[in-house]
Amino acid sequence: MTDQYDVVIIGAGPGGYNAAIRAGQLGLKTAIIEKRDNKKLGGTCLNVGCIPSKALLHASQLYEIAEKDFASLGIETGGLKLDLKQMLKQKDDAVEGLTKGVEFLMKKNKADVYFGSGEILSATRVLVSGADGDKKLETKNIIIATGSEVTPLPGVEIDEKQIVSSTGALDLAKVPDHLVVIGGGVIGLELGSVWRRLGSKVTVVEFLDKILPPMDDEVSKQFQRILKKQGMEFKLGAKVTGAKTTKSGVQLTVEPAKGGEAETVDCDAVLVAIGRRPYTQGLGLETVGVKTDKRGFIETDHFKTNVPGIWALGDAIHGPMLAHKAEEDGTACIELIAGKAGHVNYDLVPNVVYTYPEVASVGKTEEQLKDAGVNYKTGKFPFAANSRAKTNHETDGFVKVLADAQTDKVLGVHIVGVEAGELIAEAVAVMEFGGASEDIARTCHAHPTRSEAVRQAAMGVEGWTMQA
Ligand code: FAD
Ligand code: NAI
Repeated sequence: MTDQYDVVIIGAGPGGYNAAIRAGQLGLKTAIIEKRDNKKLGGTCLNVGCIPSKALLHASQLYEIAEKDFASLGIETGGLKLDLKQMLKQKDDAVEGLTKGVEFLMKKNKADVYFGSGEILSATRVLVSGADGDKKLETKNIIIATGSEVTPLPGVEIDEKQIVSSTGALDLAKVPDHLVVIGGGVIGLELGSVWRRLGSKVTVVEFLDKILPPMDDEVSKQFQRILKKQGMEFKLGAKVTGAKTTKSGVQLTVEPAKGGEAETVDCDAVLVAIGRRPYTQGLGLETVGVKTDKRGFIETDHFKTNVPGIWALGDAIHGPMLAHKAEEDGTACIELIAGKAGHVNYDLVPNVVYTYPEVASVGKTEEQLKDAGVNYKTGKFPFAANSRAKTNHETDGFVKVLADAQTDKVLGVHIVGVEAGELIAEAVAVMEFGGASEDIARTCHAHPTRSEAVRQAAMGVEGWTMQA
C-alpha cells in the first residue's frame, strides 16, 4: 500500500518542520519523516542543540550571578547550593514542551508524521522503516532535511561519558573538576561556559590563533579577554592528537598546531567540539544519484539537487549551520515548489553566541571588507559608556558598525555585550532594507537601553558620537 503526497520531507528539524508548516499553509499534501528513537520532532535544535544548551546557559548564568554578584547588589541568599539534577530536569522540560509544540504545529498544518528512517528509492518514492513496520510513500517532491552530526576527531573517541560530544555535555551526571574543550567555536564556548559557571576548571584547546574564527578579529580578541577574566583558560594554536581514558579521568596529548613538543594534559572530561558535518547516511543518495561535494554537503541550486523533484536544505547543504537559516530554507524551498518566489538572503543571517556577555554579528567583518578592498568607515561604542549597562554593572563589550565610505550603507554590525543577540535584530532589519548608518543614528532609541549603544556606534560612523 502506498500513500500519495505533494511533498515528503525527510527530517523534522527546523528546516523540515518549517517546510511542513509552509506546505500546509499553501495547501500541499505533506508527509514528514523523523528517525529519532524517542519519536520527538524538532531535530538537533530542539532535542540536543539550541534549546537544551540555552536552558543550561540561562540556569547556570543565574547560578553564577547569585554566587558572585548578589552580595554586591545587596541581596543575601544564605547557603547557595547547586542541584544539578533539577537543573538538567528543567532543561529536559523545556525540550519536552517545545517538541510537543512542533507536534501540535504538524497537526494544525495537516502534515502526516511518520516515525522511522526515510530512504529515497526513486525521485517519487520514499521508504519509511520504523518500529511499526515499513511503508512506501509516493510523492511529487522529496525534501532532504536530515541535518548534521558531530565531526569526529581521530584519536579522541567519543564515549559520551568521559569524552563527550555536545549531546553528552548537555547531560553530565556531575560537574567535572577539569573539563578540556577541544575547539574554541560556538559549542565549545557556550557549553564550556555552562560547566565553568557550575564549578569546573575549563581549558579550551583551539587549533587556530583565535577563538570563534569566523568572527571579526576585534570581537574575538575582546571576547577572549572577557572569558579569560571569567576564569576560562585557552591554549590557542594547539591540537589534541590523542586521548587515553583511565578510571580517574582522561590524559590528552596536546601539540602546537604548527609542530613542536607535545605536552600531556590531565582532565576529568573532554568535550569534542570541532564542528559538524552533513548527515546523509542511509538516505539512498547513491541509488538516485544525488550529488554531494567532498565534505558530504548536498549540492543544490535554490534547494534543487541535480535530480529533478529532489530538494535539500538546512545543515545538509552549504551555508551557516544555524537553525534560523534552516527555517528560512524550509519556507523558501516550499514556496519554490509551490511556484512562488521563495528567497533567502544568505548575506544577512545573524550569528549569535549565547554566552555572558553574548556575541552577535551580521554582515561583513572588518577583515572581509579589507580583503575585498572595500572603502569603509567604522563607528564603535563601548558598553562602559552606556547608561543602562553602567547601571546594571554589565559594561563589558562594545558595538561596532561598519558602513560604506561613499554611500554610508551598513555593511556589518558586530556586538559583544549583554543581550547582543537581541540588539542585532535592529541591524539585520536596517540592512535588509538597504539602510544607511545615518538611518540608525537618526532613529530615536529609548533611554536608558543598551540599544542606545547601537545608535551611538552608528553616530560614530557619521562622526557625531557622544562618547566622552
Ligand atoms: P536538524 O535539526 O539536524 O534535523 C534533522 C533531523 O533529521 C534530525 O532530527 C534527524 O534525526 C532526522 N533524520 C536524519 N536522517 C534521517 C532519515 N534518513 N530519516 C528520517 N529522519 C532523519 N543553531 C542556532 O541557530 N542557534 C543555536 O543556539 C544553536 N545551538 C546549537 C547548540 C548545539 C549543541 C548544536 C549541536 C547545534 C546548535 N545549533 C544552533 C545548530 C542547529 O541545531 C542546526 O543548525 C539546526 O538544527 C539545523 O536544522 P536542520 O533542520 O537542517 O537539521
Ligand atoms: P565551530 O565550527 O563553531 O567551531 C569549531 C572550532 O574547532 C573552530 O574554532 C576550529 O578552528 C576548531 N578546530 C577544528 N579542528 C580542531 C582540532 N583538531 N583541534 C582543535 N580545534 C579544532 O563548530 P562547533 O563549535 O562544533 O559547532 C558546530 C556548529 O553548530 C557551529 O558552526 C554552528 O553552526 C552550530 N551552533 C550554533 C550555535 C549558535 O548559533 N549559538 C551554538 C552551537 C552550535
